[in-house]
Amino acid sequence: MTPFQQGEDTRLMKTCEARKRTLRPGLAAMMAALSIVSACGGDSGSADEPDPAAPVDSALAARGEDLFTAKGCVACHYVGRGQRLVGPDLLGAPTRRSYSWIRGMVSNPDSMLRSDETAKELLGQYMTPMANQGVTDDEIRAIWEYLRRATADAETGAP
Ligand code: HEC
Repeated sequence: MTPFQQGEDTRLMKTCEARKRTLRPGLAAMMAALSIVSACGGDSGSADEPDPAAPVDSALAARGEDLFTAKGCVACHYVGRGQRLVGPDLLGAPTRRSYSWIRGMVSNPDSMLRSDETAKELLGQYMTPMANQGVTDDEIRAIWEYLRRATADAETGAP
């Protein structure tokens, strides 16, 4: 090893030590931030991300059914006829898609149709863009409950 390399090695070691020293507090802060995020629920499992396995809230489902008509979804979607209208029959939608996907599709179909692969595929099939009906998150939550009730009823053979 030449004296130059030796010097270089010590220099490198020193920089690494210094880096480790500065990294440690940084890492600790990051871990702390992470644990705060997970304690608050982070992105998933937060209050607006309902549990698809929870029992159906029938009052909310009834409100959702009204909204499904009031917000004009009925113009383009059947629920449980097993056939398309302008868009797909929405029976089973809460099972085949995640809640956040459905919320995105209903609240902001334009950007979903631009960027989401599944949405693009549907557009290719239905050849009409899903319309933005100006539905709030609360209303979407109720409509989702209605679709979930319809899906559960169909599975158990309830009328
Ligand atoms: C103008 C017709 C139209 C209206 C109104 C409309 N949709 Fe759609 N919707 C579509 C079409 C068409 C698609 C398929 C994707 C595409 O082609 O853009 C779709 C897709 C969907 C999907 C995804 C279905 C799947 O199989 O994954 C959901 C969920 C949905 N719509 C919910 C709603 C809700 C809720 C409303 C009312 C607030 C609504 N839509 C209003 C036309 C419409």
